[in-house]
Amino acid sequence: MGEILVTGGTGTTGKLVAQAMARLGLPHRVGTRAPAAPHHVAFDWTDHALAAKALEGARAVYIVAPTDRSDHGRVVVPVLEAALAKGVTRFVLLSSSMLEPGGPMMGEIHAWIAGHAPEWAVLRPSWFMQNLITQHRQSIVEDGAIFTATGQGRCGFIDAQDIANAAVAALTSDAAWNRDHILTGPDPLSYDDVAAALTAGLGFPVRHVPLTEEDCAARWRAKGMDAAYAATLAAMDGRIAKGAEDRVTDAVSLLTGRSPADLPDFIRRHRDAWGDEFQTQKG
Ligand SMILES: NC(=O)c1ccc[n+]([C@@H]2O[C@H](COP(=O)([O-])OP(=O)(O)OC[C@H]3O[C@@H](n4cnc5c(N)ncnc54)[C@H](OP(=O)(O)O)[C@@H]3O)[C@@H](O)[C@H]2O)c1
Repeated sequence: MGEILVTGGTGTTGKLVAQAMARLGLPHRVGTRAPAAPHHVAFDWTDHALAAKALEGARAVYIVAPTDRSDHGRVVVPVLEAALAKGVTRFVLLSSSMLEPGGPMMGEIHAWIAGHAPEWAVLRPSWFMQNLITQHRQSIVEDGAIFTATGQGRCGFIDAQDIANAAVAALTSDAAWNRDHILTGPDPLSYDDVAAALTAGLGFPVRHVPLTEEDCAARWRAKGMDAAYAATLAAMDGRIAKGAEDRVTDAVSLLTGRSPADLPDFIRRHRDAWGDEFQTQKG
């Protein structure tokens, strides 16, 4: 049968994909630049020889492109060409609801996969609920605030667990999907709605502070973020403000047979992620 190589297997979605594989007893290995467990294998998208070695004997690959660069066609596609030559048949790409095939970054990989892979799927999730415990956690805990340039724009926030469930289905289904799917949670929410859900779920006030794109980018830069990445994130907020993400789909239910988690449920399950520092601060 061959194994499934889970790239990005130490990250938000990949870790959940690998956990599901382990639970289901599916042969898999996790590709990481810093192997630290028996099922880990050394893997770096920028080291094509190393990546090719990690692909030996694999039949499928979950693709999380490198998160610190944007030249995905140049860096990732040669690795996928090697994978194809080594007999990998199924390619499942994590892209984004905002990236069209042939567009920048994962859009370049999407176009290659659709044109070359024997079996494939592209998952295009909306914004992760997990951003509230990564990107926005510090301001939620320290300032009781989320700062964005999204205005009143709404977004179909999704739990990464639902993305992982869809990825596992795409990697293991008998028939390949050979298409992309836009994945969202159940509700289109503005960041005002998100702040209200956090306030209700965490028991302390959280507000949404709307910023201009410029101020938003400056804020991320002040936190140490690379200037280009800060500008990209702020511009994406601007697109949300204009309504680009104001939609929900039923793809998660159709693909996994389970309804996607809503935000109050996510907050309840992850309450501890914001709790300790808040308690310390208040104490
Ligand atoms: N956050 C959102 O709201 C959102 C929404 C839509 C789409 N997305 C997309 O989701 C992707 C991020 O996925 P994620 O959240 O599951 O991952 P993540 O938590 O950001 O982790 C990134 C993973 O990529 C691996 N990685 C980074 N550079 C690498 C390289 N050069 N070679 C090999 N591995 C590398 C890291 O592994 P090691 O450090 O172990 O090597 C890590 O496991 C991005 O492409 C983003 O655009 C995010």
